[in-house]
Amino acid sequence: MEYKFVVTGFWVVLLVLLALLSHRVDSEPTQDKQALLAFISQIPHANRLQWNASDSACNWVGVVCDSNRSFVFSLRLPAAGLVGQIPANTIGNLAQLRILSLRANRLSGQIPSDFSNLKLLRSLYLQNNKFSGEFPASIPVLTRLNRLDLSNNNFTGSIPYSINNLTQLSGLLLENNGFTGTLPSISNLSLVNFNVSYNRLNGSIPASLSKFPASSFAGNLALCGGPLPPCNPFFPSPSPSPSSIPLPHQNPPPKNPKKLSKAAIIGISVGSVVLLLVLLLILILCLRKSRGKAAKTQKPPATARSAAVAEAGTSSSKDDITGGSGEGERNKLVFFGGGIYSFDLEDLLRASAEVLGKGSVGTSYKAVLEEGTTVVVKRLKDVVVNKKEFEMHLDALGKIKHDNVVPLRAYYYSKDEKLLLSDYMSAGSLSALLHGSRGSGRTPLDWDNRLRIALTTAKGLAHLHVSSKIVHGNIKASNILLRHDPPAAASVSDFGLIPLFASSTQPSRAAGYRAPELLDTRKPTFKSDVYSFGVLLLELLTGKSPIQASLGEEGIDLPRWVQSVVREEWTAEVFDVELMRYHDVEEEMVQTLQIAMGCVSTVPDQRPLMNDVVRMIEDMMSRDDGLRQSSDDPFRGSDGYTPPQGSRTPPPPALTP
Ligand SMILES: *[C@@H]1O[C@H](CO)[C@@H](O)[C@H](O)[C@H]1NC(C)=O
Ligand SMILES: *[C@@H]1O[C@H](CO)[C@@H](O)[C@H](O)[C@H]1NC(C)=O
Ligand SMILES: *[C@@H]1O[C@H](CO)[C@@H](O)[C@H](O)[C@H]1NC(C)=O
Ligand SMILES: *[C@@H]1O[C@H](CO)[C@@H](O)[C@H](O)[C@H]1NC(C)=O
Ligand SMILES: *[C@@H]1O[C@H](CO)[C@@H](O)[C@H](O)[C@H]1NC(C)=O
Ligand SMILES: *[C@@H]1O[C@H](CO)[C@@H](O)[C@H](O)[C@H]1NC(C)=O
Ligand SMILES: *[C@@H]1O[C@H](CO)[C@@H](O)[C@H](O)[C@H]1NC(C)=O
Repeated sequence: MEYKFVVTGFWVVLLVLLALLSHRVDSEPTQDKQALLAFISQIPHANRLQWNASDSACNWVGVVCDSNRSFVFSLRLPAAGLVGQIPANTIGNLAQLRILSLRANRLSGQIPSDFSNLKLLRSLYLQNNKFSGEFPASIPVLTRLNRLDLSNNNFTGSIPYSINNLTQLSGLLLENNGFTGTLPSISNLSLVNFNVSYNRLNGSIPASLSKFPASSFAGNLALCGGPLPPCNPFFPSPSPSPSSIPLPHQNPPPKNPKKLSKAAIIGISVGSVVLLLVLLLILILCLRKSRGKAAKTQKPPATARSAAVAEAGTSSSKDDITGGSGEGERNKLVFFGGGIYSFDLEDLLRASAEVLGKGSVGTSYKAVLEEGTTVVVKRLKDVVVNKKEFEMHLDALGKIKHDNVVPLRAYYYSKDEKLLLSDYMSAGSLSALLHGSRGSGRTPLDWDNRLRIALTTAKGLAHLHVSSKIVHGNIKASNILLRHDPPAAASVSDFGLIPLFASSTQPSRAAGYRAPELLDTRKPTFKSDVYSFGVLLLELLTGKSPIQASLGEEGIDLPRWVQSVVREEWTAEVFDVELMRYHDVEEEMVQTLQIAMGCVSTVPDQRPLMNDVVRMIEDMMSRDDGLRQSSDDPFRGSDGYTPPQGSRTPPPPALTP
């Protein structure tokens, strides 16, 4: 709720600023305003909905205009006390409308046929009203629809086959109505959310819909097949199950499914909070312990090498490390293939170093050698494998060469110290870029760059999976490193190290990004990598860190938080406020959200392969490049403060609220 206010507030501030700067306070969508005035004058509504006719319609409660204030972009009047039929010739005249939400009112009757004019509509939320009649004929015409929610109404008749015309549809929610007949086969839709529960449907569930859970189909007259029990062979049906046993078609619907699921939700939330507290406690204890340890180990000369890397110019300890005790030959820096570096351990120990970050596998330092070379040194802690295994594993990792994988350059192994050397990426980590000092004059990461980071990261991971057969095992924003040139090219680091550590410590790693099955299996897989990548996509979309202590009140993880918001309304609320300024990318954001939701599927087999993810992102980007050049983009060529076509740069910083 609060987030919604922030978003709305942002819009209001932005629009007011735009208006002031362009001296066009009076500019407004005249035609759309008439349609809205006609609507509000004909329909009973709540008192708080005071649309002042002498004010610009763009300033009215629930109305958002495009940046040029030339048309109404979205109309959201949830729970506004609207009663009765939607009058014809009102909302149907908002020809440019993209989002319409009239949920939770007492609207009744049929949807006016002039809704078919809303050709650009992407989201239609009419749930929780008293609409009746057949499935509105005007809806299958709205081919841009992405989200359609007609749930909790009194619709009857059959669900028409023509919803197959809505090829962009990702959410179709029709539960708690009176729909009858059989389910049409819905073939080409990329549906993510689907629910027809508690209607009066019968017949078999089409194969294309059988991927949805039983609760999507519960409480109907006689649906069968798919996730429900197989169809009774005495009933003719398009795809009868071969080995079907006559079964009672339908378990009676639970008396009150809502109550049950509420209890479950409360259980889960309480569980997560307790788990979180326990994890926090463990973390604090661990930190204390390791701090104590570190303080001690800095003194005795035997482990001075630990400090030597960390502290600038402490060359006093170098003899101790390379020292002539016969170990000198063995304890050397081992460089991989050819190597672009020409320094030895002594040089490294003389380097000035600064801590980059403490991760779950060890601490990273940025080391600047006297000759000017900068490398990243990672001190691994709690390595359990022996030297031979270590070397074999590292040799395999050292062979990996790809633009989007941070190359490993060298390693060092001794009894007390295990070091990894890799290239230093000057543009820092995604984590710093996304979450570092938000709001204080920082340039927000724009959508194009986020998308490029997502694509390049996916490419790096796909290379690890396919060419190197290596599970990354520790995907998180702080392990995605960026280059300035080319801009926003990401590389994955810290890959494939998990086999070096005891499996009992795995679950504590990368909390927030960890696939649910790892709590049991403890062994990261390609599929658990895909899950973590999905969380990373959600992080790019929402701007929220998955390891933030709490998202909203419930303290749930990022995927579940997104799911909970998306269940209500698909778009605006989940996205990063910093992205809300880019109107013309909302479709890409929604598509990316769909890809992310597929990746964070709780069932590992339902997640796509990393290769598929790369292809999906590339497809989306090439498709939308085409779209953006087409003339139907309402934001093209407007005067100055909206991004020019093609290069979607943010508006001047002065406009940032
Ligand atoms: C409507 O807006 C005008 C100008 O903005 C203002 O003068 C007037 O008082 C407003 N009327 C109401 C009822 O708020
Ligand atoms: C659906 O699309 C087909 C072909 O694209 C068209 O013939 C048909 O009229 C459309 N149906 C509706 C209800 O728009
Ligand atoms: C739903 O519609 C039917 C007729 O189609 C009517 O009898 C019934 O009262 C309606 N229910 C509600 C809750 O409006
Ligand atoms: C599904 O998509 C394929 C190509 O993507 C197309 O050839 C086919 O006609 C589509 N089927 C329907 C029912 O729209
Ligand atoms: C569904 O129910 C209707 C009427 O109740 C009936 O005519 C039809 O044959 C049923 N279809 C299936 C597949 O059971
Ligand atoms: C479908 O809707 C019903 C009723 O609101 C709900 O209990 C069920 O969990 C929903 N299923 C899915 C998969 O969303
Ligand atoms: C913006 O508004 C002005 C005046 O209302 C109009 O001339 C111009 O074409 C509009 N631009 C766009 C992109 O709609």
